Amino acid sequence: METVVLDQAMLSQIDGKLDQLRTMPKDEWVDRQEEDLLRQKWDLEQKLELMKTKGNTYHHELIALDQETFGDGDKRVFKEVQAFKKSLAKIQKKEMAWPSLEPLVTAQGNRVEIATYKKCGDCHKAQYEVWKESKHASAVVPLYIRNQHLNPECIVCHSVGFHEPGGFKDLGYLESFLDKTLGTKNKGSMVELRDYPELDRKLRRQYVKAIEKASWKKDFIGVQCENCHSPRGIKDALGKDLPHQVEKELPKKVVAQTCLKCHTPSQSPEFNFEKDRRILGEKDAKAPFHCKFKVGNTP
Ligand code: HEC
Ligand code: HEC
Ligand code: HEC
Ligand code: HEC
Repeated sequence: METVVLDQAMLSQIDGKLDQLRTMPKDEWVDRQEEDLLRQKWDLEQKLELMKTKGNTYHHELIALDQETFGDGDKRVFKEVQAFKKSLAKIQKKEMAWPSLEPLVTAQGNRVEIATYKKCGDCHKAQYEVWKESKHASAVVPLYIRNQHLNPECIVCHSVGFHEPGGFKDLGYLESFLDKTLGTKNKGSMVELRDYPELDRKLRRQYVKAIEKASWKKDFIGVQCENCHSPRGIKDALGKDLPHQVEKELPKKVVAQTCLKCHTPSQSPEFNFEKDRRILGEKDAKAPFHCKFKVGNTP
């Protein structure tokens, strides 16, 4: 019987990741990831080619290692998977030792850093109050449920400025903060939060309360103001804070491309800029960012 079942699953995963990378702004990190994936792809294709000529075959199937599969089944296997993810997280933590990127310097000679929502909220209270209720603000919660909050592959779209100039690279504070805030029993529990709106709301509320109370000046976790409005922490050459309005180079408009960096076809197949953006104007709708859009309430 000539059944050659090739490792297409792996290949298409790699292709998916490549597609995602190619929608992101080019930088060192993106380049390195792309190189890495292309190498993996090449290796895999060579292997498959070799197998075909030798006539060897094997079958390969992807199984989600989640509560649904293992929750009522073999507890040991579920535990093993969690332990594996933990050790993976440790390795990934080491990988975070990435050189700091220099902040951008504009034509006016100012440095542009990411200020994070902590700063924006000082002046844009109305926008902040709506944003903090949005899923964007608490986007690290579903990662924690999957024990993937230290995975750089996930963080990149669930936070601001990861590996970007003036952004962050240190996830050191995250683990203990999330354990304390969300409870370790929820870590890696693998529940589908969408199916548990009560729990979803509860955890997100706990999270937002905790970040508001925290004393840190910057916090890069969650999809934030500057994911959509570009970095706005402006400093002059001597490092003095300047109001962001002095900087003429900042992008003024939020365009579809802004959202599509993260709402890629694979992560967000239903995404529709016109529709999802319009949520902003709908009365009483829970806007994903802030509902003052149509009203034009600035600041
Ligand atoms: C010190 C007060 C202050 C802080 C802090 C501040 N803003 Fe502003 N912001 C303003 C003022 C004032 C305006 C101008 C209002 C106008 O021109 O109509 C403005 C305008 C804006 C606008 C609309 C016009 C434009 O430039 O696109 C956006 C968006 C904005 N700010 C985002 C942010 C973000 C994001 C942060 C945090 C990184 C932030 N602001 C921090 C005071 C502030
Ligand atoms: C930095 C990545 C990123 C950017 C940029 C981004 N999003 Fe999102 N968005 C996410 C993530 C991650 C979630 C899921 C968060 C969660 O469920 O915890 C999400 C969720 C949403 C949701 C569902 C919100 C809800 O409350 O159910 C909408 C709608 C949405 N985004 C619209 C947009 C639009 C429109 C833009 C552009 C103006 C945008 N997003 C930009 C990452 C991003
Ligand atoms: C390319 C950007 C991107 C990457 C990389 C990414 N995500 Fe997301 N994620 C999103 C967006 C956008 C959404 C919102 C999707 C929607 O609602 O349409 C989302 C939603 C989710 C949700 C659903 C949240 C909810 O409220 O139910 C989970 C869980 C999730 N992501 C986990 C992960 C994990 C785990 C990884 C890493 C393996 C990851 N994401 C990597 C962009 C990304
Ligand atoms: C998911 C994307 C997204 C996030 C996150 C986001 N905004 Fe906006 N913001 C928009 C869009 C879209 C507009 C409409 C104007 C435009 O298209 O540029 C807007 C408009 C504004 C304006 C102009 C006045 C208004 O309300 O229309 C200000 C000020 C502002 N945002 C501040 C903030 C601050 C502060 C935060 C964080 C607390 C934030 N935004 C988070 C997408 C976002």
